[in-house]
Amino acid sequence: MSSNPSYNPNSARRCLVTGGAGFIGSHIVEQLIARQHEVVVVDNFSSGKRENLPSEVEVIEADLREGIGAILGKVKPEIVIHQAAQVSVSASMQDPIEDARMNILTSIQLIHDACRHDVQKIVYASSAAAYGPQDSIPLTESMRPVPVSPYGASKYTVEHYLKTAALGWGLREWVALRYGNVYGPRQDPHGEAGVVAIFIQKFLSGDRPTIFDDGEMTRDYIYVEDVARANVKAVETDLQNHSDPVFNISRQEETSVNKVFEILRDEMGSDMEAFYGPPRPGDVRRSILDSSSARDTLDWNPQVTVEEGLRKTLQSFLLSQR
Ligand SMILES: NC(=O)c1ccc[n+]([C@@H]2O[C@H](COP(=O)([O-])OP(=O)(O)OC[C@H]3O[C@@H](n4cnc5c(N)ncnc54)[C@H](O)[C@@H]3O)[C@@H](O)[C@H]2O)c1
Repeated sequence: MSSNPSYNPNSARRCLVTGGAGFIGSHIVEQLIARQHEVVVVDNFSSGKRENLPSEVEVIEADLREGIGAILGKVKPEIVIHQAAQVSVSASMQDPIEDARMNILTSIQLIHDACRHDVQKIVYASSAAAYGPQDSIPLTESMRPVPVSPYGASKYTVEHYLKTAALGWGLREWVALRYGNVYGPRQDPHGEAGVVAIFIQKFLSGDRPTIFDDGEMTRDYIYVEDVARANVKAVETDLQNHSDPVFNISRQEETSVNKVFEILRDEMGSDMEAFYGPPRPGDVRRSILDSSSARDTLDWNPQVTVEEGLRKTLQSFLLSQR
């Protein structure tokens, strides 16, 4: 447990959420508020939206690339939950320098400034993309990551800097959460990240979705509210003495793209058939993450099944169309 007598992981904490107006960040903000934590959001609205957030939340519109020291000095958060990122794998392939500028350099600057401003803990949004191709599944945190995209490399790099900050710059605590395939309400259907959002958008516009290859490739889909709860658990669990606080956040369950398509189609009451396109270069055949470490250490369990999560996501897209 903590050596700091004033530290109480159960008390309300003052949190700054970077990228808090985005898809995952806005769900984290909602749950932090529901748990009585104080929340300030910083976002440049490059993909996030003000309407994703409850009106009472304080939002600072700023670009992290221009520095966050002054904001930290003003807000004085105890905890920074760092979600803001360049989130596109293909954009990172096309422009690795800009990806590194946002995802690596800006994150290092944030970590360094956080230490100078007495932030006690940083909760970091990492990704299963860090792993790259591995010889076996499920992916476990003890495997040596070999990221194949600049995006995956950037996520892995920042984990190292968090460790460096704890060892050398006085950061009390850090946690990196390697998310699986996150889906749910408010996901941008125009990005590349979410097959679920893309399929729903296609159904709603009457277009046939494209499934690459034979559709039997699997992913470990996790509902966004479960991911947000993992972040809240990371805020509330004292991990100061944990030697390597990196956790997979997943259902630990494989679902094929065909299955996702079928569930959504049934729920829509549609008889639409998908187009089957060629395989996409670099797509791994199967993906599943072992999340037992998060379950044990963070006392976290995913609660929403894929069927239920897909249903809820579809309902939210239908509601937002009205
Ligand atoms: N969606 C997934 O499946 C997934 C999987 C693994 C990891 N992640 C990680 O989770 C985090 C959140 O992703 P998301 O899917 O919610 O994406 P998102 O694009 O919805 O959210 C990112 C937020 O960061 C903000 N932002 C971006 N650049 C900024 C800058 N320079 N200054 C200030 N704000 C900035 C955006 O406006 C947006 O609100 C990211 O770090 C992403 O890499 C996401």
